Amino acid sequence: MMSFPANLLVVYLAMMLTGVARFRNGTVAERIELMIEVEDENDNPPVFVPVPAARVIESSPAGTLVAQLNATDADKINTLHSKIAYSIIKQEPIDSSNHFYIERGTGLIYVTDATLDRERVSFYSLTIEGADMDGAPGGNTATATVNIEVTDINDNIPTLEEDEYSCSIVENVAHIEVIRLKALDLDEENTENWLAVFDIITGNDDNIFSIKTDPVTNEGILWLEKVVMRLASPAVGLGGTTEGGGGLGPEGAAFTPKVKSLQVSENPDSDILAEVIGIYSATDEDSGKPAENVQYAKGEDKDNWLNVDPVTAEIRINKVPDRESPFLNNGTYYATILCLSHDVPSKTATGTIAIHVADANDNCPTLPKNLEDICSNNQVVIVTATDNDAEPNGGPFLFSIVPKETTGLWGLEPRTDLDLEDPQFEF
Ligand SMILES: *[C@@H]1O[C@H](CO)[C@@H](O)[C@H](O)[C@H]1NC(C)=O
Ligand SMILES: *[C@@H]1O[C@H](CO)[C@@H](O)[C@H](O)[C@H]1NC(C)=O
Repeated sequence: MMSFPANLLVVYLAMMLTGVARFRNGTVAERIELMIEVEDENDNPPVFVPVPAARVIESSPAGTLVAQLNATDADKINTLHSKIAYSIIKQEPIDSSNHFYIERGTGLIYVTDATLDRERVSFYSLTIEGADMDGAPGGNTATATVNIEVTDINDNIPTLEEDEYSCSIVENVAHIEVIRLKALDLDEENTENWLAVFDIITGNDDNIFSIKTDPVTNEGILWLEKVVMRLASPAVGLGGTTEGGGGLGPEGAAFTPKVKSLQVSENPDSDILAEVIGIYSATDEDSGKPAENVQYAKGEDKDNWLNVDPVTAEIRINKVPDRESPFLNNGTYYATILCLSHDVPSKTATGTIAIHVADANDNCPTLPKNLEDICSNNQVVIVTATDNDAEPNGGPFLFSIVPKETTGLWGLEPRTDLDLEDPQFEF
C-alpha cells in the first residue's frame, strides 16, 4: 500500500504537488511529482504606460509615425487574457476627418492623410482604448489620452497690410526711418517661418533706400540712406517683395528659385488640365542635384488649383484657371510647394510658385447704364462700356447702333479725349 502525505509547493501560477510512496517498513519507495497549473482568470484590466505629449509636423504625409501607446496586463502572458487591442475612440476636436489611426496590435499611432494644418487646428487630443481578449467582447478595458501638437512649417505666403504705401520725405536729411510696412503671415508668430524678408526690387537704382525687418513686429523698415534733392526726383516709386523666412528644409535641400514662375492660359479650349505645367523640385545644395529621400506636397493653395506629384514634383492644375478670379493678384496665382524629408521627424522646405494666367476673351463687355436721359437742347449721349478682360480682349470697343430697335436719326462717333479708362462714344 502506498500513502501520499503530500507536500504542497506553489510555483508562480502553478502548483507543484510531490507525492511520496513508502513501503510498510517505512522506506521510501518512490517520489511522484505532480504539476498542477492554476487556471488564469481574466481578472486584471490593461494598465496604460503614461505617454508624453506627441508632436507632428503639419502636412506630414500619410503613414507618418506620431506616437506609441503601450499597456500592460497582469494576467497570464501569451494568452488572450493579456492580449491587448488598441483603438482610437475619440478625437478632439472632431474636425473634418479622423487624422490619426492606431495599429491594433502595437499601439503605434500614424497620420491618416496629409491634411494636418496648424493654422486651422494646432492641438488634438485622442482617447485610446486598450481592450484585453484582443478586443473581443467581454474583455477588460482601459483608456488613455494622448495629446498631439501640430507643429509649424513655412506654408503661408506673407502679405503686406496694404498694396501701396505713400509717404513724403524731407529734403537734405538722410539716415532716417521713412515708413514701416507690416507683413502679415499666418505661420507661427515669432519664428523664422513668420518673419518676413523684405527686398526692394525696383526704383532704387541709386541705393537711396534700404529695407530691413523689425524682428519684433515683422515690419519692413524703409530707411533713407542718402540725401534726396527735391527737384532731382520729385517722386520715387519703389516696388518690393516680401518672402517668408525659414525655407531651410530637409538636410541641405532647398527650392531654387524661391519663387518659380509658371504660365497657363485661361482659354477653356487649351489642354491645360492634361498637361504638366511645370516641375518644381528641391535641390540638394551640396551636390546641386535634385534632393533625394524627399516627398512633395502642396502647402497654401487658396482656391485649390493644384496637384503635385509627391515623387516627381510635377505640377498640374485641376481646374481651368480664371484670370479674373479674386484669388489672383494682377493676373497671378500664388501657392506654396513643400518638400518633406523622409526622416523622423520630417523636415520641410517651402517654395512659392507664381502662376501667370494669360488672358482669354471670356468676359463680355457690359454697358454700365442701359438707359440715358437727354435734353432737347443737348442731343448727345455718351456711352461707355467696361470689360473685365485685359487688353486686347477688353477695350477698345466697337460700338454700333442696332437699326431694328432704333427710331430717329442717330449717328455714332468715337471719343477718346475723355480722361477715362475706356474710350467713349458720342451719339
Ligand atoms: C523495506 O521493505 C522493502 C520491500 O519489502 C525492502 O525492499 C526493503 O529492503 C525494506 N527496508 C528495510 C530497511 O528493511
Ligand atoms: C501687373 O502686371 C503687369 C504686367 O505683368 C505689370 O506691368 C504691372 O506693373 C503689374 N502691376 C502691379 C501693381 O504689380
